[in-house]
Amino acid sequence: MEDLASIRKEVKKAVSGASAPEALENLRVSYLGKSGIISGKMRILGGLPPEQRKEFGAAVNKLRDEVSNLIEGKKASLEAEELNKKLASEKVDVTLPVRPEKEGKIHPISQVIDEVTAVFSSMGFSVAEGPEIEDDFHNFNALNIPPEHPARQMHDTFYFPEKDGERFLLRTHTSPVQIRYMENNKPPYRVIAPGRTYRCDSDMTHSPMFHQVEGLYIDKDVNMGHLKGCLKIFVEAFFGVRDVPVRFRPSFFPFTEPSAEMDIGCSREGGELKIGVGKDWLEILGCGMVHPNVLKNAGIDPTKWRGFAFGLGIERIAMLKYGIPDLRTFFDADERWLRHYGFAPLDIPTLARGLNR
Ligand code: PHE
Repeated sequence: MEDLASIRKEVKKAVSGASAPEALENLRVSYLGKSGIISGKMRILGGLPPEQRKEFGAAVNKLRDEVSNLIEGKKASLEAEELNKKLASEKVDVTLPVRPEKEGKIHPISQVIDEVTAVFSSMGFSVAEGPEIEDDFHNFNALNIPPEHPARQMHDTFYFPEKDGERFLLRTHTSPVQIRYMENNKPPYRVIAPGRTYRCDSDMTHSPMFHQVEGLYIDKDVNMGHLKGCLKIFVEAFFGVRDVPVRFRPSFFPFTEPSAEMDIGCSREGGELKIGVGKDWLEILGCGMVHPNVLKNAGIDPTKWRGFAFGLGIERIAMLKYGIPDLRTFFDADERWLRHYGFAPLDIPTLARGLNR
C-alpha cells in the first residue's frame, strides 16, 4: 500500500513536469503498459491472502485509473496550449479589404453563365459539356442537318483541313452537346450546356467566337406548354422582372419540330431599352420540340421519349441585361472595360441572393 502511495507521488511529479506529448506517451508505457510498474502490482495480487486481495486489488485499480486520467488530462492541456500558440501567431484579419491592385473582376460572360446556371439549376437542370472541336456527325448530321442541307450554309463554319477522309470543325452551336449527352446517358434528363461556339462572322453584333447555352429536357410526357413555362420562368428570374410578356413565333430549325423563336416584351422609348414593359418585342432565343430523328440518331426511342430544346446567345442577353452596347468589346481584353463591366469575384450569383449584385 505504501508502494502505491509513492508511485502516485512519483507519477504526479513526472506528469506535471512533462512538456511534450512524447514524454507523456513514455510515462504511459512505463506505468500502464503490459510490463509497466502498475501492471506489475496487479500481478502480485494472486499471491496475497484472500482477505488482503480485495482491498489491494481495488487500490491498484484506483491508482491505474488516476494515472490514466492524469496523463490524458495533461495531454489535452498540452494540445490546447499548442493550438493557442498557433492561433496567436497565425492570426489573419479576415475583415481587411483585398489590396486594390490585386482585385480581379469576373468577366460578364462568366457572370451571365453563372446566372443562367443558377436559374436553371433551381428548375432541376444540371450542366453538361462537350468539345469545341467537333465532327460533322455531332454538329450537323445527328441534328438532322444532312450534307446538302441549306442550313449548313447558314452556319459559316470554320473547318479544319481534311484528314483520313474526316473533316473536323469548330462547333457552330452548342446543340451537338444534346447528341453527346443523349448518347452517354439514359433519359429522363434536364441539362443545360453553356460554352464557346464559332462562326465565320464579324461585325457590331457578331464575333467569330461567341457563347451559347443549350437546354435539353427529355421525359415521357413533355409538351410545348412545359417549354413555354420553363423559358418564361427563366427570363423573369434572369432579368429580374415580373410578368414579362413572351411571344413564340413559328420558326425553323432542322433539329426541332415545331420550332419557335421566343420574343420578350420591351420598350425602346426615348432610345432606352426596358425589358418587361412596353409594346415592342425583342428576340432572345430559338427553341422547339426535339425532332424524333434527333432522338433516333442519339439512340433514344422517340416512341417512348420526347422533349424540348433551346439555344440562346450569352453575349446577347449579357448586353441586354447590363447595357453593353458593342459585342466586340467583350473580347478586346481591355482592363478599363473589365473594371467597368466586370463583377466582384466572390459574389457568386444565386437566386436567393439576387442574380445581378
Ligand atoms: N442551335 C440553334 C442556333 O444556334 C439554337 C437552337 C437550339 C434552336 C436548340 C432550337 C433548339 O441557332
